[in-house]
Amino acid sequence: MAKPSQVTWGGRFSAGPAELMLRFSESVSFDARLAQFDIVGSKAHSAMLAKVGLISKAERDAIHKGLDAILAEIEAGTFVWNTQLEDVHMNIEHALTQRVPAAARLHTARSRNDQVATDMRLWFKEAAADLAARVRTAQRALLALAERDGEVLIPGYTHLQRAQPVFLAHHLLAWMEMLDRDAGRFDDVIAQANWCPLGSGAIAGTTLPIDREFTAKALGFVDARGRPQVTQNSMDTVADRDVFISFAAACATTGVHFSRMAADLILWSSVEFKYADLPDAFCTGSSLMPQKKNPDSCELLRGKSARLQGNLHTLLTLTKGLPLTYNRDLQEDKPPVFDSYDQTAICLDVLEGTLAGMKVNRTRCAEAVSDPALLATDLADYLVMRGVPFREAHHAVGAVVKLAEGEAVKLDQLSTEDVQTVHSKFGPDWIKVFDLKRAMAMRRGTGMPGPKQVKRQLARWRKKLNP
Ligand code: ARG
Repeated sequence: MAKPSQVTWGGRFSAGPAELMLRFSESVSFDARLAQFDIVGSKAHSAMLAKVGLISKAERDAIHKGLDAILAEIEAGTFVWNTQLEDVHMNIEHALTQRVPAAARLHTARSRNDQVATDMRLWFKEAAADLAARVRTAQRALLALAERDGEVLIPGYTHLQRAQPVFLAHHLLAWMEMLDRDAGRFDDVIAQANWCPLGSGAIAGTTLPIDREFTAKALGFVDARGRPQVTQNSMDTVADRDVFISFAAACATTGVHFSRMAADLILWSSVEFKYADLPDAFCTGSSLMPQKKNPDSCELLRGKSARLQGNLHTLLTLTKGLPLTYNRDLQEDKPPVFDSYDQTAICLDVLEGTLAGMKVNRTRCAEAVSDPALLATDLADYLVMRGVPFREAHHAVGAVVKLAEGEAVKLDQLSTEDVQTVHSKFGPDWIKVFDLKRAMAMRRGTGMPGPKQVKRQLARWRKKLNP
């Protein structure tokens, strides 16, 4: 039989929840990690209550002292969490009430609905800043790699078929751009989270004379000029989970990028490619085949991206069709974002470690890029410079490729007479097209893989990341 319980809302109930219900509805097993934010939130709230005269300064000080002691116990691991008290908020409030009589006034003009929204916004600001910083660290490892093997050329691929030559650095700097957008998305999350919910109450604010701006300022919900930012609609505030979705989306997109970088690295480390050797520290062997060295860090980076997408999907499904405002469903919003944070953080560290220890096989890269067919497009451009329309030039070079295939020779092994039979605009200098160094130097425009451009980009990143 259910007994009256110690929960804060027990007044209108004659019996407490069933043991099964308590086990079913508790969230402290996962939201205890919000404790530090819950405590700073309560300190700011009680400071505001004292400022407007709803509690005395002595009561505020007693509450602060009690909360500091609880935080110290939580950090020391000696605080006893009780699932019967549902969540992090009620655990802390209950512990405080047992120590400090003034704690009975702490929840004045506040609901767990605006409280949890506040805790989470504080958490998002910290989590997103942390992930943005880890992205920067991974970018620095990438930059070091691009600089170390800056002059190595590899074939660039489309459709996983050799396409055109690029500096390896150009390929690595493509990843750099991807990661940079990821960091930008985490910065956006910080800006989105930066509005204080406190004062929205359960749904409709409060009749008590509170000062929302004071609390917002105390918690750092301020704009660039230090002006407080408070949310503008109490109903939206307690119902809104957009920042959860934005954060999970930023993690999921970063995960997509992990998976694409990982796919390249897995190919590059295969015997078939052999462009790169991944660090032993981030690979594993086979329990059966003694010769194996498997690129597990990359495979897991790719695999975990599925999990990050799943978390985003959970949040979208959780909030879809939910009537305003707060519904208990929303308690399920935390496990996916916590998991997205944990997994994205460790993925970024592993990516950094994998890149830092990766060795480029220069011989293999040079072999692969020496294929003159990679410069077939340059040969078409050569005809264009001699006045031939591009479509006609493309067709003519296609016929040259076919001719070489027929004679089982490389493109640059055909004679000038051979190619002139295909198109009369081929001059004796056509063969110069296959000078790889010259070909790369001709790619001069912004964003292109020419040596000057790559150097410029490397300098740009060096400045931006200042390693
Ligand atoms: N543990 C709850 C959650 O995470 C806190 C808010 C509870 N509000 C309520 N009205 N029951 O959503």
